[in-house]
Amino acid sequence: MGEILSSVPMVQMNNGVQIPQVGYGVFQVPADEAAEATANALEAGYRLIDTAAIYGNEKGVGQAIADSGIPLDELFITTKLWTSEFGTDSVQRAFDASMHKLGLDVLDCYLIHWPAPAKDLYVESWQALSRLHSEGRVRSIGVSNFTVDHLVRLADETSVTPVLNQIELHPGLPQNELREYHAKHDILTQAWSPIGQGKGLLDSPFIVAMAERVGRTPAQVVLRWHLQQDIVVIPKTVTPSRMRENLELFDFVLSDEDMAELSAMNSGRLGPDPATFNP
Ligand SMILES: NC(=O)c1ccc[n+]([C@@H]2O[C@H](COP(=O)([O-])OP(=O)(O)OC[C@H]3O[C@@H](n4cnc5c(N)ncnc54)[C@H](OP(=O)(O)O)[C@@H]3O)[C@@H](O)[C@H]2O)c1
Repeated sequence: MGEILSSVPMVQMNNGVQIPQVGYGVFQVPADEAAEATANALEAGYRLIDTAAIYGNEKGVGQAIADSGIPLDELFITTKLWTSEFGTDSVQRAFDASMHKLGLDVLDCYLIHWPAPAKDLYVESWQALSRLHSEGRVRSIGVSNFTVDHLVRLADETSVTPVLNQIELHPGLPQNELREYHAKHDILTQAWSPIGQGKGLLDSPFIVAMAERVGRTPAQVVLRWHLQQDIVVIPKTVTPSRMRENLELFDFVLSDEDMAELSAMNSGRLGPDPATFNP
């Protein structure tokens, strides 16, 4: 990936590849709206797009990429392997199917979507992702929803470290232990549901008050909390004004006190617990 023309800073991963610190996620964007939403996001300045086979909208994302005319080396496209496709041969097939829908020859980043520990196939699947990487079909490989235990097992049984772990992370779930492990092993932390899925977290009176005090929106305050901890965020919105709002994060700074107050929220997890979730 070459230089990005938007104003989003780049972060270097453990393989030397750079990733934009703010991306656009398309979970729950319906298939027939994905092309328009992604086109609007690209227009707003996003260059990292985060989709997944299970979202059912890779085709729309691919359409927007093709129509945009933006050179592929200025984009960073992530998709994810669903757990029903775990296992050496299925990974190859699932990858080919995703690439066909996205209309790409080389993918920027492929992630294992969930470890689904009861299947006991995430290590074998990781080795299959490593092969795709060795073959040059994907530039970077990573994981999603891996706990420390899952990451330790990958480290013990394989020789390839994920570039990143995409996890649920927001002030309600600061994930301190996992982030410490990431820091020690040079794994980038990428936050899903970074604004807590919109409602609830953003309505919390203490965040609303902080936002008023710093002259920003609640979403901007929460996204800024991530950026100041070197976390990569991938907020989702189908609303063009919010797409722009969620990128306007680089001209203000939260104080240490505001950061600490947000980190102390600890209201809990919104999604499933990866230790016990076996989709
Ligand atoms: N790896 C995984 O297992 C996993 C799981 C979940 C999500 N993800 C990824 O992470 C991305 C983001 O997570 P998410 O979609 O769950 O949640 P999110 O980005 O935290 O929140 C999205 C919600 O917030 C609203 N919103 C967006 N910007 C806003 C703003 N500035 N002000 C007020 N509301 C705003 C959106 O509404 P509108 O769209 O109506 O504007 C939408 O309802 C996903 O799209 C996906 O790519 C990954």
